[in-house]
Amino acid sequence: MERLPGFRDFYPEPLPPTKDELWSMDARNHIFDTWRAVARRYGFREYDGPPLEPLELYTNKSGEEIVGQLFNFTDKGERAVAMRPEMTPTLARMAAAQERAYKKPFKWFSIPQLFRYEKQQKGRKREHFQLNCDIIGENDRAADAELIALLIDTLRALGLTSADFVVRLSSRNAWSDFFSSRCPDATKAYDFFQVVDKLDRTRAEDSAALLAPLGFKLEEVQAFISGGQPNAELQLILDQLAARGLRDFVRIDYGVIRGLAYYTGPVFEAFDIKGEFRAICGGGRYDHLIKQVSGGKVDLPALGFGMGDVVLFELLKSRGLLPAFNTGLAAYVLIEDETLRPDSLRLIQQLREAGLPTDFSLTPAKGDKQFKRAIELNARHTVRLERAATGEVSGKLKDLRTREESNVPLEEITQRLAAGQR
Ligand code: HAM
Repeated sequence: MERLPGFRDFYPEPLPPTKDELWSMDARNHIFDTWRAVARRYGFREYDGPPLEPLELYTNKSGEEIVGQLFNFTDKGERAVAMRPEMTPTLARMAAAQERAYKKPFKWFSIPQLFRYEKQQKGRKREHFQLNCDIIGENDRAADAELIALLIDTLRALGLTSADFVVRLSSRNAWSDFFSSRCPDATKAYDFFQVVDKLDRTRAEDSAALLAPLGFKLEEVQAFISGGQPNAELQLILDQLAARGLRDFVRIDYGVIRGLAYYTGPVFEAFDIKGEFRAICGGGRYDHLIKQVSGGKVDLPALGFGMGDVVLFELLKSRGLLPAFNTGLAAYVLIEDETLRPDSLRLIQQLREAGLPTDFSLTPAKGDKQFKRAIELNARHTVRLERAATGEVSGKLKDLRTREESNVPLEEITQRLAAGQR
């Protein structure tokens, strides 16, 4: 039985490369741990929501593209439901429901697994994890700068530098001004944004044909993009990033407009500089979504970003930035004399209770086989109990890095190993 296309198995550790693409929990935990640590450093609090939501949460809010990619079905209670394809509508729903309980602005993060029935391509799966960081209840552009700084520092914490990635910053407001100066029909703005979003993935003549009925020439759209001057709101953001010493990571690029329907103000995406991968991350302001999701009951400005694990993992791998993972065993207890198994189990229990990762052979095995296993598991020490002629039991400790061996009284083993771990 094979797994479904577009889904991943996560093996505990990275395995030698095979034809299949291999994912590991070690790498995933490394990415998640870094995401959590940096988000907390910026004062963000973690939340989560249900992986299954009412279908209606996404229709008309996220935009056609994502709605066309939903994993949706009717449940046994005749409800139309969907696996979450993104976190933002869930967050908007949760924020609207409990907003009175939280002082504004509030800064929240989450690491949801998301599901999109997409055509499989490099960096695209039918399931991925995404770091979502959002700020609710702040109109000031200082919040946009705070969020972009967090995005930059998250990538820096993973070892990436300004030579590896760039944040392309744009503004839906700038695009709306451009659109309304030429087209009075505001209902067509989203169709226009969709064409702009796909410009670099579409043939020029096809883009021109889509723009013509909206009253635009491809050349004037291209000229607006290459003009690239920050409008007032983007200048405020750039100034605050410059004050933090992070200006070099950001470039004004009106080629970014974002595909999702709900964005209202500054929008941004992070890309690898060599242009080998899809966007690592994307986000922006969505000041009307909470009002829309709450049926007009709660009106709060909001902004955020989503950073996917798939592109990030591929980028880190290609730049050699995934660390060497260690199983982290402090000790492997060798049981060469089966009469010492009860004493060995007592010691193993003590070591584990002291918080030291410890393993051993569950069944009798030859000494050299057990020792080989200790090496394979990357144990720091082996411990072997011995019984002297007097009947007294003591331990032999071997440091597997230095290969030094020492005799240690039974009652001192735990202490010695704990000290060796520091
Ligand atoms: P998004 O641009 O759809 O935004 O996704 C953000 C990132 O998630 C992308 O840049 C990409 O790295 C990753 N991603 C998206 N789809 C896939 C996929 N099928 N396979 C692998 N990776 C993927 C959003 O989802 C917004 N809700 C982000 C946001 C949060 N905006 C405001 N707050």
